[in-house]
This record gives sequence, structure tokens and C-alpha cells, in this order.
Amino acid sequence: MTNQSPQPRIAPPKMGEPYLLTPGPLTTDYAVKAEMLRDWGSWDSDFRAMTATLRAKLLAMLGAPAGEFDCVPLQGSGSYCVEAMLGSFLPRDGKALVLANGAYGLRAAETMRYLGRAFTLIDKGDYLPPRGAEVAAALAFDPAITHVVAIHCETSSGILNPIAEIAEATAAAGRKLLIDSMSGFGALPLDPAGIVFEAMVSSANKCIEGVPGFGFVLARRAALEAAKGNSHSLALDLHAQWAYMEKTGQWRYTPPTHAVAAFLKALELHAAEGGQPGRLARYTANRDTMVAGMRRLGFETLLAERWLSPIIVTFFTPADPAFDFTRFYEAMKARGFIIYPGKLTVVDSFRIGCIGRMDEAVMRAVVEAARDALAEMGVTSAAPPAEALAERARLAG
Ligand SMILES: Cc1ncc(COP(=O)(O)O)c(C=O)c1O
Repeated sequence: MTNQSPQPRIAPPKMGEPYLLTPGPLTTDYAVKAEMLRDWGSWDSDFRAMTATLRAKLLAMLGAPAGEFDCVPLQGSGSYCVEAMLGSFLPRDGKALVLANGAYGLRAAETMRYLGRAFTLIDKGDYLPPRGAEVAAALAFDPAITHVVAIHCETSSGILNPIAEIAEATAAAGRKLLIDSMSGFGALPLDPAGIVFEAMVSSANKCIEGVPGFGFVLARRAALEAAKGNSHSLALDLHAQWAYMEKTGQWRYTPPTHAVAAFLKALELHAAEGGQPGRLARYTANRDTMVAGMRRLGFETLLAERWLSPIIVTFFTPADPAFDFTRFYEAMKARGFIIYPGKLTVVDSFRIGCIGRMDEAVMRAVVEAARDALAEMGVTSAAPPAEALAERARLAG
């Protein structure tokens, strides 16, 4: 036995750029980036075949029975695809129950407001999970609600929401579930055999480790068929995008050809790693190594173990007056790691992502960099302020 870190199993970024410990864009494999060196004609049969492969592989990853679901890729970042999903599947006279416990749930509610569609909001604050019983009660109270909108992993705090109990409550009440699994799909299981949902959305630059440029919706074919005429937007009309793709094999408007080529390579690497279970195992090991090391340094996580996602982890900012986040960020960057500021409203925090082309050896180096950064700032304790711990106790209660 030796205490020495093993060599990384995954090669470090070839251009020498820092690791992105952020939930997308994230650190990608060189082979993924290299796919972007050639150009593709958007109408050409080669690119049409690439689009067909992409759709088929994503459907296979979902694991739904043949013919029940379809995959609609759409240009733009994740928010464009969330807006497309909400605008396309919610009938104009429908009503959504939006479950929020962080920035992305609130963004879904804000999107509903922009769309001018009816919705009610359960806002659990920064990080308390929306529970199945609350969903059941809200649906029983308001028969006008047709759809529930849930966030799988709320990336702002890193909380892994209880999607199975939310899905169960929604199905039991005869309503339809729309899932934002932006930062989860490809790593977190979302088996339609066990979790009933109408549609889910994710993007190229999250757990499948592609580059930014498009997202995709995996939806029941029946929902796609019924979505005709619902959308508020020409460019974000998922039914129209789907119908055009089905007919021509092409994207309706200019596709992100290079990002698609890169994504196909990312899908190959995903499969080679053992698909969703393989990826989850690596991200979980990344999280466990990083969290254990940060705790040894005195840092505390915002969330209790049970809610800690293998995607991104929020840490309280240390109370020590010598700690300054901007200096910490720069010290980490100088050591090759780009971390993420916090997004909580009650207490100061920062986040470290576990996803992207990196392994436990990298995570050990992250902890060493954090230790050195603390020493450089003269921070003697990484313990959070008492009010942060009180806030966390409130969560546990
Ligand atoms: C859960 C979730 N929803 C939506 C988004 C928005 O995606 P984008 O920033 O690509 O528009 C993100 C981005 O991280 C996310 O994590």
C-alpha cells in the first residue's frame, strides 16, 4: 500500500487549460474536441445519418420500449430546450405546477410567466427538496393543474431531488410530468419503466460530456403528436422540429454541425465507459474523494449525505476573515482548477463540480490545491459560520 496518488486514468487537458469543475460547459476529451476539426454540410446525407444516429443512441440510453418515445434535438443552450418543452407540451389552456428549490426551478417558473401560461409554484427555498406528499396535496387542491414540472438535479445547490416520489404522486393524480434533467441525464438513472413522465430535457454539454450548442428532449410520441399548435414560438416549436426531422432527416434551421460531430464521439466514450451506470460510478467516486478531502480540510457541505448529488457539491464559505472567495478562486485557477461561485441566497457558498473528463486522481489534486490556497490566504480554519450550520440543521429537521 502506498499513499501516493495513482496516475490519472484519464489524460489531462491537452492544451494545458484548467479543469472546469463546473456543471457545463465542462472538461471534454481531446477526441471529442478533435471531431470539430472538419466541416459537415447540414443537408448532406452524411450529416443526416449523424443526426439519426444521435437520436437513436439517446433513445437507447433512455431505455424506453421501442416506439413509445422519440428524441428531438434542438439548437441552443439548455434554457432554450426547457422553454421549448414547456411551450410545446403545455396546452395553452393547461396549467403547470412548478416545483422549485433553486435557480433552475425558479427559471422554469419565470419561463411560464414569459409564456403567459397558467402555473402555480411550490418554492422550497434554496435547497429543501419538494416531496411527493406536497405534490399530491397541491394536485388534489387544484384540479386545473395538468402538468407538473420538476428539476431532477437542482444544479444551483447540487441537490438530487426525489424524482421517483414526485413521478409517483403525479401519475397517481392522473397528471403529466415534465422533467428538467439537464445536469442528470446520462449519469443519473431515469428509467421510464419505473418513473412515469411525459418528456424530459437535457443538453449536450453535461453528463454526456459533449460541447455546448444544442439540447434534446426525449418525449412520448403521443405527447409530440398532441403538441401540434401549442407553441408560442416558431423556432422553439418541438412538434415542428420533430415533424420536419421525421420527414427530412434534417434539423429545421442551421444545425450546430460541429457540436453534433463532437457529441457523437462523446456518446461513444459514454458507451465505452459502461453507459449511465459507468458514468455514475466515476462521478460518484469523484464526489466521494473530493467531499472526503474537503471535509478533512474543515469545509462543510451545505447538504446532508442523502441529498448530495454526484454532479456538483455546494460548500459553505469559511467564517475565517482571512478567507476571500475571489482570492480562493484565483488561487485554485493558478493551480489548474476553475471552480464555481455559490448560488444560495441565505449563506455564502461555493461549488465544485464532479462531472466532466476527470477522475479521482484529479479530485485528490483539487483537494491539495484547496489546502494550498487556504495556506496562501492565511486561513487557519475552513469551518463555516454558526448561522450556516443553523441553516443546515433546519434542513435536517
Ligand atoms: C437543471 C438545469 N436546468 C437548466 C439549465 C440551463 O441550461 P443553460 O445554462 O445551458 O441554458 C441548467 C444549467 O446548468 C441546469 O443545470
